[in-house]
Amino acid sequence: MINVAIDGPAGAGKSTIAKAAAKKMGYIYVDTGALYRAVGVYSLRNGVDTTDGEAVAKTLPSVSVELKFQDGVQHVYLNGEDVSEEIRTPKASMAASHVSAVPAVRQFLFDLQRDIAAKNNCIMDGRDIGTVVLPHAQVKIFLTASPEARAKRRFIELQAKGAKDAFEQVLADLKQRDYNDSHREVAPLKPADDSVLVDTTALTLEASVEKVIEVIKEKL
Ligand code: DC
Repeated sequence: MINVAIDGPAGAGKSTIAKAAAKKMGYIYVDTGALYRAVGVYSLRNGVDTTDGEAVAKTLPSVSVELKFQDGVQHVYLNGEDVSEEIRTPKASMAASHVSAVPAVRQFLFDLQRDIAAKNNCIMDGRDIGTVVLPHAQVKIFLTASPEARAKRRFIELQAKGAKDAFEQVLADLKQRDYNDSHREVAPLKPADDSVLVDTTALTLEASVEKVIEVIKEKL
């Protein structure tokens, strides 16, 4: 199977770019952040403090997370319920960042990610795909952009959904998540040694997709 790993900080455009590139290549697109978000949503729903790693770990026996692909679009199921919308709120983003620092949570989601990659040609995006989950991926890309550019994109996305979050708040949340994601002890966000760096700060979406496809084709 052909596996493409795309890692990078929140808001670098990973999901939009990876999704478009996967479509063009005929691969499935796997958004692993959705898994951490689903685990975070379970805690939020059940009043569990997401910064309390032990408490979050204790929820895992009651959690089942599944990914299903409908017409090439990924849906995430939490205990049988499609939570694909609910996982996208700013609260769920922060909860995901917290629970993803818990080793038991990463362990819990590991086999699921590996299994999908073993059975499908895929582009998988996340934080530790090239470093930990798929160290043998044929192509590894580290996709990034300046914090301001990333916050601006996130802000526009949120506004389109009718959310009222202020830009400063979006930027502050993003910087906080960058810090959390790259400073945790287990599988912190960092480029794999053999990854290709793609900086999308000055690129349009179309140009970013082209660049990513170019890197994939070159590597293959
Ligand atoms: O990509 P995203 O914003 O949906 O990810 C949500 C959170 O999940 C992010 O703050 C870090 C975490 N995450 C992770 O630790 N490892 C991954 N492979 C994907 C996401």
